[in-house]
Amino acid sequence: MKEVEITRAIAGWDRELEHGVFLTTGTGTQVNTMTIAWGATGRFWNRPCITVAVRHSRYTHDLIDLSDQFVISIPAAGSLKQELSICGTRSGREIDKFDACSLTREYVPETTIPLIAQCEYHLVCTISYRQSMDPLLIDAEYVHQSYTDHDHHTMYYAQIIKAYQS
Ligand SMILES: Cc1cc2nc3c(=O)[nH]c(=O)nc-3n(C[C@H](O)[C@H](O)[C@H](O)COP(=O)(O)O)c2cc1C
Repeated sequence: MKEVEITRAIAGWDRELEHGVFLTTGTGTQVNTMTIAWGATGRFWNRPCITVAVRHSRYTHDLIDLSDQFVISIPAAGSLKQELSICGTRSGREIDKFDACSLTREYVPETTIPLIAQCEYHLVCTISYRQSMDPLLIDAEYVHQSYTDHDHHTMYYAQIIKAYQS
């Protein structure tokens, strides 16, 4: 695992996001990963930032609210399709997805949250701001498309503090 420029890892994020990347979070022994395909990178508070959207129903939502950090692990182009599918359809409440997908945990000094060694890039992120969507403020078209079950997202804004390449 070697440190790389944040912009380099973000290029990997831009390439892979629509196919899915891994969001890993938790505290202590309670750690879980899930597939995400919604998010954005940019600058807030004069720092490189990432925003991710996690629905209230996810086990990841329970864990991220106990934590102040998460790690985004980005597969090499077109790789880990089955693992992304499992981590995007099965819940960490039922299975240990690291074991089920044989994902290898690797650790870096900035966080106790593991990086997924089989991925190409990793963004270590510290949460700066979190806000659950206000149902009254969502455009009606998106309510119809995504929220008829009232399973809204919480938006997590985080500073990207370090980037790594496997
Ligand atoms: C390609 C793909 C992208 C996904 N993107 C998101 C997302 O951005 N936000 C979200 O809340 N769920 C997303 N999901 C659904 C979660 O990954 C899925 O519900 C997962 O099983 C939740 O796991 P957990 O209960 O262990 O947290 C996505 C699923 C797939 C397959």
